[in-house]
Amino acid sequence: MSGTSADGVDAVLVEITRESDNPAVSLLCFERRPYPPGIRGRILRLPEHPNALREVCHLNVLLGELFAQAALDLLQTTGTSPTEVALIGSHGQTICHLPIPSTEGAFNLRSTLQIGEPCVIAERTGLLTVADFRPRDMAAGGEGAPLTPYPHYLLFRHPERCRVIVNLGGISNLTLLPPDTSVSEIVAFDAGPGNVLIDGVVRHLSGGTLEYDTDGAWAASGNVNQALLKRLLGHPFFRRSPPRSAGQEEFGPRMLEEILVEAEQKGISPADLVATISTLSVEAVVGSLETTIFPRHAVDEILLCGGGARNRWLSSALGTRLAPRPVLTTDDIGFPVGAVEATAFAILAYLTLVGQPGNLVSATGARHAVPLGKIIPGRNFPGLIS
Ligand SMILES: Nc1ncnc2c1ncn2[C@@H]1O[C@H](COP(=O)(O)OP(=O)(O)OP(=O)(O)O)[C@@H](O)[C@H]1O
Ligand SMILES: [Mg+2]
Repeated sequence: MSGTSADGVDAVLVEITRESDNPAVSLLCFERRPYPPGIRGRILRLPEHPNALREVCHLNVLLGELFAQAALDLLQTTGTSPTEVALIGSHGQTICHLPIPSTEGAFNLRSTLQIGEPCVIAERTGLLTVADFRPRDMAAGGEGAPLTPYPHYLLFRHPERCRVIVNLGGISNLTLLPPDTSVSEIVAFDAGPGNVLIDGVVRHLSGGTLEYDTDGAWAASGNVNQALLKRLLGHPFFRRSPPRSAGQEEFGPRMLEEILVEAEQKGISPADLVATISTLSVEAVVGSLETTIFPRHAVDEILLCGGGARNRWLSSALGTRLAPRPVLTTDDIGFPVGAVEATAFAILAYLTLVGQPGNLVSATGARHAVPLGKIIPGRNFPGLIS
């Protein structure tokens, strides 16, 4: 898995067994490896590349190699033979996500593009690989995101407590899990920018020397510029009611450029700018909860995951804003914050092979539930017809 932040590859080894109606999942190993120098910038700057088509073509196989390497290294670290592994699930790297339909003649089109060639992964590892989970949901009329709610349900549902899972990835998304819930009661949608704008501002202000605001130290030293915050919270995405999903198109380079210009014009200091943009991420989550979740559900606890859960300023600001509701991280209940999303895609790949849908229509807005992904045969693929 590599998410919108394009920070690197999260690889997990999981064991999935069937337990009555639902798969049971245990995490055996998790490794996070930043992309080699320069790769993140090439992914994020793709839209401005003078020969973008060629660069996409090339990066597709390069990322396929990096994903394959991550999988092989994980096997080596854990002393696992590839013959013990049933399959690989690879989300890929999203380079474009256009969930709002555009009309072309008789067609109403939603589109998304993930790269990291799964044929390379299957070839290097010899393992059957399931990849590209989003397009099928979109073909069924969905936004293609968020796809992690059902995996969140499998990992984090609680018999008595009503939980909200908040994934602070590049974009943040929420999953409501009422206690003892059935899948049909899950509510999930993208909240707004998670780390993506914070990372962009920090990268710019540090002249490229910092990739993110480590532990939120920069945000902690600044004060929020209320006027800028208010303007940013006026973004039309925040007025869209769920199902909704966002990407770099909403909260990416264009918005970043506007923010940097405004900050310069108004003389907003670097620390104040990071504090303001970090507060935008907090308010995106708080606003989503207050509008859509809290009026209808008595939430017992909020569980943060994703890289943003490691940003201490973000997690403590969320704790303050959401008090008295407890705000914890999935680390606190024994599941590493960085491993959640990658585990989700291992689960979705498993579901594909057992012929079960992975999307929730309530989350993506698809017309129906569908099995997700494209299946690339491994080395010992038995063939399906004789
Ligand atoms: N110690 C830390 N302090 C502050 N921020 C951190 C820290 N560690 C990670 N992060 C943030 O987390 C980001 C990576 O998070 P993550 O991998 O969950 O996002 P993502 O790749 O966009 O994932 P996804 O889209 O799957 O949710 C980094 O870019 C950075 O902003
Ligand atoms: Mg990531």
